[in-house]
Amino acid sequence: MFDPHQVKKNFLILDQEVHPGKPLVYLDSAATSQKPKAVAEVMARYYMTDNANVHRGVHVLSDRATTVWEMSKEKVAKFVGAEKDELIIVRNTTEATNGVAYGWGDHQLKKGDVIVATLMEHHANLVVWQELCKRTGAKLLVTGLKEKAEVDLADFEKLLKTPKVKLVAFVHVSNALGTVNPVEQMVGLVKKHAKGARIVLDAAQSVPHMPVNFHDLKVDFMAFSGHKMLGPMGIGGLVVRKELLVSGEMQPWLFGGGMIEEVQEQSATYSDDLSERFTAGTPDVASMIGLATACDFLSRLGMDNVMKHDQELVKYSYEQLSKVKGLTIVGPKPEHRLGSVAFVHDEVHAHDLAQILDSEGIAVRSGHHCTMPLHRACGWQATTRASFNVYSTKEDIDALVKAFEKVNTIFGL
Ligand SMILES: Cc1ncc(COP(=O)(O)O)c(C=O)c1O
Repeated sequence: MFDPHQVKKNFLILDQEVHPGKPLVYLDSAATSQKPKAVAEVMARYYMTDNANVHRGVHVLSDRATTVWEMSKEKVAKFVGAEKDELIIVRNTTEATNGVAYGWGDHQLKKGDVIVATLMEHHANLVVWQELCKRTGAKLLVTGLKEKAEVDLADFEKLLKTPKVKLVAFVHVSNALGTVNPVEQMVGLVKKHAKGARIVLDAAQSVPHMPVNFHDLKVDFMAFSGHKMLGPMGIGGLVVRKELLVSGEMQPWLFGGGMIEEVQEQSATYSDDLSERFTAGTPDVASMIGLATACDFLSRLGMDNVMKHDQELVKYSYEQLSKVKGLTIVGPKPEHRLGSVAFVHDEVHAHDLAQILDSEGIAVRSGHHCTMPLHRACGWQATTRASFNVYSTKEDIDALVKAFEKVNTIFGL
């Protein structure tokens, strides 16, 4: 097991005061994680020594850039249990789900078809399907929750029995509730009741916190963001099951240079090389190397250890925050959650809480966390969320709990 205090030393940004006498306590990693020094350095070094465009030149720098691009892509694919060809590089989870909508949905769905999602989805895994429904005439059905904490599997099963379910989209780990969904069971239900329906897994909050293997999960599409897993902003992945790429069921949705085979004035054919077929235009090589370096960093810690560390923090914060007067923690019990703990206060609005906590150096997030339908259904105007990563410590949580003394003083509680 690693020592998070030692790990923290790699994150220089965390060693600062954000207000006089108030050291930064960063508890907003679900929004974006901090980046280890190694990630920043490898990207800077790339620009200072190797930068060139990939696949387009015969000169040395272009050759180097191509090699590191390919090697980094291979490494990231392996990290999430996919083959290199199955990984399409995108900017983030949002672009990945949009990729499914445009590259698959636009030509696979028609009027009357059905998409099933859940009420705990991030807008990136919901609004995209709403728009896809507008374009194709398909219908979106949203599964309800049990005890404002987990997917109601009976409702999920009922919706899957609707005729013409063609796409099922759900989140692995909820960013708002922390819930870890039973993917195996949910995939089993899809395969039982909606044979042939394709499954999209939003893994934005699972890939950073637990071992994730695309093939083992038996989903068709998986989306994740590099910036939540210690990597740079602006790079992420859409993993697509190889058969869908080879058969042409999944098609490119971005067109232009780099992905073509032959271009005529009025038409074009596209590369047989799957990796190239889905990489239109100049890719972000520096971010790709940064993401691969982040994967190395996490692999060295061991994803089993990362998950264990996270579980300990969730349990500890759950216990400590439960003692704070006026707070109610939302979502499931610690055993069923990962990455974050969100709460509501009897007397104080989430935004006021976040503001006061910030004045004590504590960075948390308040609002609907891009899950408006979930918040509305649960009757929460807004929640405040503390979220963790490998550099988070129990002392960070102690500081959060202590900062509630100031909340109590200001509000006279
Ligand atoms: C569960 C989940 N899905 C999707 C997203 C969207 O990620 P991005 O903003 O990187 O596209 C987030 C970001 O918070 C998330 O937590």
